[in-house]
Amino acid sequence: MCSMKVCIVGASGKLGQYMVQHALDRGYEVVGVCREKSVSKLDAFKGRITILPGATNDRAVIKRAVAGCDGVLTVLVPWGVHQYSSGTAQAVLDYTRPNTRLIFSCGWHITYDGQDVYPSSLKREETIARWVSRLTHLIDIDDQVEACRRIFASNTRWTVVRGSDLEEGESQGLPVWSRHVGDPSLQSNMTRRVDYAQFMVEALTNDTLIHEAPAIVSCRTPSALAYASAH
Ligand SMILES: NC(=O)c1ccc[n+]([C@@H]2O[C@H](COP(=O)([O-])OP(=O)(O)OC[C@H]3O[C@@H](n4cnc5c(N)ncnc54)[C@H](OP(=O)(O)O)[C@@H]3O)[C@@H](O)[C@H]2O)c1
Repeated sequence: MCSMKVCIVGASGKLGQYMVQHALDRGYEVVGVCREKSVSKLDAFKGRITILPGATNDRAVIKRAVAGCDGVLTVLVPWGVHQYSSGTAQAVLDYTRPNTRLIFSCGWHITYDGQDVYPSSLKREETIARWVSRLTHLIDIDDQVEACRRIFASNTRWTVVRGSDLEEGESQGLPVWSRHVGDPSLQSNMTRRVDYAQFMVEALTNDTLIHEAPAIVSCRTPSALAYASAH
């Protein structure tokens, strides 16, 4: 078997830990980046992965972490007001070697071609989140939008996986996807994190997803079962 070396940026979070497990299950060599204070969250993987502690938008840390990697899985989070998402994305775009597979995570609110049709409940949620972010400075949704704008404009081999609402629980299988939010198959708007992570890791070796921004939903949700996937 030809083994891959992958970097997981944001490895200590819920999605990150599932991605580490899926990558190890596939026999990949794993390098994880997470904040210093979160290193202990990866204790279960001690000795099996390399951990580089640091903020994910620390360019020096990302440069070291992605060196020699065939794929990079990045959890894009809109934390804080200091270009955390866009700084993370930019560092990954700048320091990966050509032909590296880059997979990024975000939510349905990101649009690639402007053809998404959002349910009014989702638009309301986004409006509220924007107000909360302006008042608290805890999150910056617009910075995640900027991160994705840069990814879409790059000439890298990117995939941006747009997650529905997420829940914990046993795997239900590889999620189904659609190019656009608004597709009836996505209506149930729920995916298990473990399956989201599997979709991210599988995307590393699925070239049909290059330059796609798949919006995903669990394959066992009523909407996915009712409508055959568009793909
Ligand atoms: N949650 C949802 O319902 C939802 C829905 C759609 C899409 N998504 C997407 O799914 C991905 C991960 O979602 P998740 O819910 O599973 O979350 P998660 O994996 O727990 O990820 C949270 C990440 O944010 C980091 N983080 C937390 N607080 C931080 C801070 N103050 N400063 C810097 N980093 C901080 C965490 O690092 P530490 O371990 O160091 O804390 C972790 O890497 C994201 O890309 C998100 O956009 C989520």
